[in-house]
Amino acid sequence: MHALDNNALVAVIGAGAMGAGIAQVAAQAGHPVKLYDNRPGAAAQAIDAIDRQLGRLVEKGKLDAAARSAIVARLQPLEAIEALADARLVIEAIVENLEVKRGLLRQLEALCAADCLLASNTSSLSITSLAAGLHHPERVIGMHFFNPAPLMALVEIVSGLASDPALAQCLYATASAWGKQPVHARSTPGFIVNRVARPFYAESLRLLQEGAADCATLDALMRDAGGFRMGAFELTDLIGHDINYAVTCSVFDAYYGDFRFQPSLIQKELVEAGRLGRKSGRGFYDYAAGAERPSAAELDSAAEIATCVLEGDLGVAQPLVQRLKDAGVAVIERAGSGLLRVGDAVLALSDGRLASQRAGEDGLRNLVLFDLAEDYTQAARIAIACSADTTPAARDQAVALLRRAGLRVSLLADLPGLAVLRSVAMLANEAAEAVLHGVGSAADIDLAMRAGVNYPRGPLAWADAIGVGAVLRTLDNLQRAYGEERYRPSLLLRRRHAEGRRLHD
Ligand code: NAI
Repeated sequence: MHALDNNALVAVIGAGAMGAGIAQVAAQAGHPVKLYDNRPGAAAQAIDAIDRQLGRLVEKGKLDAAARSAIVARLQPLEAIEALADARLVIEAIVENLEVKRGLLRQLEALCAADCLLASNTSSLSITSLAAGLHHPERVIGMHFFNPAPLMALVEIVSGLASDPALAQCLYATASAWGKQPVHARSTPGFIVNRVARPFYAESLRLLQEGAADCATLDALMRDAGGFRMGAFELTDLIGHDINYAVTCSVFDAYYGDFRFQPSLIQKELVEAGRLGRKSGRGFYDYAAGAERPSAAELDSAAEIATCVLEGDLGVAQPLVQRLKDAGVAVIERAGSGLLRVGDAVLALSDGRLASQRAGEDGLRNLVLFDLAEDYTQAARIAIACSADTTPAARDQAVALLRRAGLRVSLLADLPGLAVLRSVAMLANEAAEAVLHGVGSAADIDLAMRAGVNYPRGPLAWADAIGVGAVLRTLDNLQRAYGEERYRPSLLLRRRHAEGRRLHD
């Protein structure tokens, strides 16, 4: 089905952060837009704020003055909701409360034409539930924008049980025509992004709780090895712990307490202390004027390394070998199972087992595990964890070798799956589960995670790059190490692995 014609009147209800942003997006796309808020004067104030914001774009030369005037002229504030009876699309962005939103939808159904689409920007309520009780629940569809709506590309087009697929397609095409990157999602708790992103926060919080390293080190690893824009601690400080914790709790409750989504006591404590992040001046980090930002811990080594032995190949980590060769390290290659030997140390990419456990099971001494990197040709940092028998000299040799490859080396306590590998394995697991349950297609889920939360790769494509078998093994090993259902692999991973297929096949 085609996009709405851009002459079609769009009404936005709720002139807060999201409503104002959505109104701006629709007006920029050429629609006449009516904006209503039940707080008198709020809609007009929001339009003034949009005008000032567009003014700043004009000053920077990013928008011409005539376009600014045209956009603002298309925005009309309303003082009475009845005046939007002629809208073709109404998008509500009012308070996140099921009963209040349902009341509004009932009012809109009585007010608007039969062919008017009713969209909700809810981030956590069920579209099925919002539409229930209406005479025409088929025209209620989620249109979930991300904050700030004029800048963030992603829009989740969310269908409830009764939503008409043709109308969902119309909103998809409309969001696309507005310059957005839409994806289809089935109405399930958290839709795509707020569900699939949970392990990104959860695994870092757990690593912190279990004493793997400090926040600054873990954040640096997620950035410099994982390729994420921010680590989980700096990101949740930015989002606000009250908001991030509430989303986790809501997803956890909605999935009947599934341990995969279990909230973190560390984050709860921050909320209780009022340490909400940047907005309150303190979260995991201190934002007071003059406060020093802690730096990531890293290991130095005085060991001199000229040679190492590569047994087999390192799989996804193989580019490290080229980095070593480029740095002038002589690499002696022989058959084997993916180990790098230097002096007394043996290095291997983590497979989700504890270093000490793997050392015992595989009969290896001085075992130093290293972490996954998003791109081993570029990574600036890598995490390691050492088996308990690793001597200081062997550890020094391993660190020196990795430093020769141009990597900063951060030591983690011996925890299964290190930092990036376990986070990515759990993101891929959640994404696979969402595919299995028909929440979205593999392509849409990956796209949503890249466009909605700026992940360097979609979790499913990432799992394909690492190998479905390797991700499955990592999760199986994490589950074995913790004995917890939280790490149970999705049936889809196991099935695809058994079939010899990729997740994107
Ligand atoms: P907000 O609190 O900034 O704005 C809500 C606005 O709705 C207020 O101006 C309020 O006066 C108005 N309002 C409340 N009840 C109303 C009613 N019955 N009729 C008309 N106007 C009413 O909230 P925000 O952040 O803009 O969120 C709005 C919606 O968007 C919520 O459903 C939220 O879950 C969702 N959302 C929020 C995101 C965010 O990052 N803030 C991201 C994506 C979705």
